[in-house]
Amino acid sequence: MSQAVEKVKALTDHTYGTWNRQSGWKTPMLVTDAEGIYFYNADGKPFIDFSSQLMCSNLGHKNKAIIEAIVKQAEKLPYAAPGFVTEASIAAVEALKTVVPEPLSQFFFSTSGTEANDGALIMTRQSKAPAYKIISRYHSYHGATSGGLSFTGDPRRWPAEQARYTVQGVRFAPDNYCYRCPFKMSYPECDIQCARYLDYLFKEEGNVAAFIVEPVVGTNGRIVPPPEYFPIVRQICDENDVLLIADEVMSGWFRTGTAFAMQNWNVAPDIMTTAKGASNAYTPVAITMTTEKIKSHFEDEFFCHGHTYAYHALALSAIPAAVAEYDKLYKSGLPQKVSQHLEKKLYELGDKHFCVGDVRGIGHFWAFEIVKNRETKEPFDVKPDKLSGKALMTGKIAGDAMQQGLYMAPWYDTLVIAPPLIITEDQVDEAIDIIDKSLKLGDEQAVETDVPASRSSVYKK
Ligand SMILES: Cc1ncc(COP(=O)(O)O)c(C=O)c1O
Repeated sequence: MSQAVEKVKALTDHTYGTWNRQSGWKTPMLVTDAEGIYFYNADGKPFIDFSSQLMCSNLGHKNKAIIEAIVKQAEKLPYAAPGFVTEASIAAVEALKTVVPEPLSQFFFSTSGTEANDGALIMTRQSKAPAYKIISRYHSYHGATSGGLSFTGDPRRWPAEQARYTVQGVRFAPDNYCYRCPFKMSYPECDIQCARYLDYLFKEEGNVAAFIVEPVVGTNGRIVPPPEYFPIVRQICDENDVLLIADEVMSGWFRTGTAFAMQNWNVAPDIMTTAKGASNAYTPVAITMTTEKIKSHFEDEFFCHGHTYAYHALALSAIPAAVAEYDKLYKSGLPQKVSQHLEKKLYELGDKHFCVGDVRGIGHFWAFEIVKNRETKEPFDVKPDKLSGKALMTGKIAGDAMQQGLYMAPWYDTLVIAPPLIITEDQVDEAIDIIDKSLKLGDEQAVETDVPASRSSVYKK
């Protein structure tokens, strides 16, 4: 056994692997270093980080300015109880005010995306009582706590439900998943039924307090809505007195080209949650943001929420530095230019490989949906396969890419293409060459057809 493998075994023998059978948590890679768009294993081998780890290291690795800000805070005041104000919390709010869209102006700080969503749940249920139901969508992930998992649509909710771990009062709405439309319709003839159906759902359900959405669906498919979707949703929420919650834990922080994905459609949510890119993932920090109107509800009502690590000074210290770094990067014009190059390269690559059914995305946030047959859209794997322990085709492709020095997170049906926003055109080309080779594994078991890969996020009338 090599030294690195011995070290890994010493760890895995004594820890739980996340979202895994423990028999599948035996020999994960030991990561020892990272810089720019690369991370390194114990032998010093570099890997292109084409998923920004968990779609969170948006500014890449070893960003000096953010690290320096964290070190400074660690030396001065890493922690104070959340009942105090710190210079770190003042600076974080000031920085957020420069980037967060109106009318969101009120903040609650926690340490993970799921906690940000739990905060949103509590704010919603207290401020909208007696209404209490939360409407979510099937293609969604909102976190691992009992709140976040309850309104998660993906299969990770199923075992949690069986373990009676979820909260009650959640219903699911149809997805805006044009590649496999739940109404079997096509854009634009569909007249955006997935949005219009919400009016029926809200009225028939009754007691609906909020609709929670990932504006561009993250793990569950990088699904980009038609341009009409959010304006219609906003109107239906207003007409039914239902709050609109945008979960921007993954889609936020310039992943889609704008600071927050909702800005692509100029629609303002009532509550927005975010984490990940807020600190470039260097500190565990999350934010629940609301309008003044929602906060005013708690002027005299007890806000029954908080954590020891709420408003954690060390965690918050990364935010102002990250905001400044995003600003500098966008002023350089690099991400805007590279996202166009990435899009072009992904469409070309998709057309070349029979196993790519759909290429969709926006900004630096893309998916290849992997299928057996482009014509019939027959998939290799479906949701229950994710839990069954079956070797998935996406996993095989991603595993091959890893052997070649590229990390790309697989989901049960898609590959996650979400490189750091600092990536250059040459580095994109280097990555595309590797994926080109790995997709051949899927092609070998896919049906050859004349049908090109679909481009479901291109909405043409
Ligand atoms: C959209 C979305 N919401 C919530 C979460 C949960 O965030 P965390 O893992 O930080 O709790 C995630 C995590 O990937 C996410 O993608």
